[in-house]
This record gives sequence, structure tokens and C-alpha cells, in this order.
Amino acid sequence: MKVTVLGAAGGIGQALSLLLKLDLPENSDLALYDVAPITPGVAKDLSHIPTSVNVEGYVGDDICVALEGADVILISAGVARKPGMDRNDLFNINAGIIKNLITHVAEVAPQACICIITNPVNTTVAIAAEVLKNAGVYNKNKLFGITTLDVIRAEEFVAKKKGLPAEHIRVNVIGGHSGSTILPLLSQVQGVQFSHQEVIDLTERIQNAGTEVVNAKAGGGSATLSMARAASIFGVNLVHALLGKQGIIQNAYVDGGNSCSPFFTQPLLLGKKGIERVLPYGELSDFEDKKKEEMLELLHADIEKGIEFVKNNS
Ligand code: LMR
Repeated sequence: MKVTVLGAAGGIGQALSLLLKLDLPENSDLALYDVAPITPGVAKDLSHIPTSVNVEGYVGDDICVALEGADVILISAGVARKPGMDRNDLFNINAGIIKNLITHVAEVAPQACICIITNPVNTTVAIAAEVLKNAGVYNKNKLFGITTLDVIRAEEFVAKKKGLPAEHIRVNVIGGHSGSTILPLLSQVQGVQFSHQEVIDLTERIQNAGTEVVNAKAGGGSATLSMARAASIFGVNLVHALLGKQGIIQNAYVDGGNSCSPFFTQPLLLGKKGIERVLPYGELSDFEDKKKEEMLELLHADIEKGIEFVKNNS
């Protein structure tokens, strides 16, 4: 298996590359690409860690070499939020970056699974889909917006609130990856009871957790380490599924035929060809159902913005 990280020299990219070097299956190839000249050095640095994962670094025009033969591509390239910004404020810069990178992917590695971390995810995934469609290589079973960070945050926050070990908590988070589009289904958490006020407080905290980090970093960026952990969980699980491991379920933001939105985060059974089956997200409480209905206008607008961007820039 070959895994390529685009944006590998950034805060997320470097931590993600380290985790992949440690956690990918034996003898995997890990290709790191970034525009930053440090990238071959990041790869050299990682190559001194004794695992059988083979690491190479590429910079500038070598993106095609980095992408050649890739099975999984994780994209973290782009700029991060500063306090006072929401994820949509990154659109002007990151939309162009994603369009450009996906154009290369469409040419060099159209068969690869593409996992997008770059914000605003609700929109960048739609941009990627349009670019792939225009190139005639779109496979909806192989395009994912990474939302695993919402899941691990939800599990950690619930665990802390209830004094339970996080490993025992499973939270299904649906919708998208920004503010009110992030919807944790706390009513489905097994073995834990919440008061109505706890549901309100936890839901708000999970929805605003990215902003919590942005504010704490005080102008120095957004979540990098927890995002890298989340993306590596998703990426490593995807690699195992592609290799034939059965029963791997992960949530991600996909074109999954959901009746409420063209792209929607929900549980997916992963398999040898990417998404094997989109799974139902289960029953919602009245509170969750209302929140789901309320998010849809925003989610649709985010998706439309991506489609329009590609239309106007093709
Ligand atoms: C996050 O959820 O932490 C990331 O999407 C980064 C951000 O801007 O919040």
C-alpha cells in the first residue's frame, strides 16, 4: 500500500506523517509532499525511526512522483484559522489549493482513495468531487472528508464529563465539519444517561471544540496534533479495509446518497474498494432531529459554494 500526504510539512502533516510511519501496516510506502523545501528533510527525519514503513519526501514539481501509484491520499495542505475566523473564512485560499491538488490527483492517481482534512471540509470535499467529475474520474466511494476529530473529541468530552474511560465511549457524530453542522448523537451513547442540560452543553462544546483550540493557540493556528491523530485513525483503518480486513466502520463526510444532503457525515462500512456500504445513522432524539433540520440550510450553502467555485474557475 502506498499512502501519500499532501501538506506533509505543516503542523498537521508532520504529526500525521509520524503517526503513519508508526502505525501503517508493515512495508507500506509513505510519500510526503509539500511546497515547503523542508519536506525531504521531514522524510529523512522520519526514516531514522525503525519501522518497515518506507518514507520518501517530495517538493515542488515532484508532486506527480509523490502521487504515482498511491492507494490513499491524505490532504492537509492549506491555511489554518486565527481567532475570530470561522472555517469558511479559509475558503478564498484553501479552495484554490484543493482544486489544484485534486487536478494532479485526477491525472496521476485517479484510482486512489482521497481523504480531505483541509478546511472548510464541508466545501473542499464538494470542490474535489466537481474537479474529479470534470476529469471523468469521480468515484464517490473513494472521496472522504475527515470528521474523525469530531468523534474523538465527543468521546473524550463525554468520558471526562461522566468520569468514564474514553476507550469505552462510542459517539456517532453526523452532519458536516463546522459549527452547527457537527451533530453528536448523544442519545445513542450506550450505557450513559445525560440530563437535557448536559446534552445542550456537550453538543455546544463538541461543535465549538475547533474554536476552543484556535483561541487557546492565540493566533498560532488551529488543532494540529489531535487532527493528526484523527486523520491517522481514519487513514490507517482505510488502509486495513483496502487490504481486506472486514467490519471496519468509520464516520466520514461523503457523497453517500443521503436524502437530506448531497454530502453528509455518517457511519460507513469500509472495504477493498473504499466505501462498501453507507450505514444508517440510527434514531435521533427530538433535540437531535431539530438540530439536524436546522443545520441543513448551512450545509447545502457550503456545498453549493464549492460547486460554484469549480464552475467559475474551470
Ligand atoms: C478543527 O476542528 O479543529 C479543525 O477543523 C480546525 C479548525 O479550524 O477548527
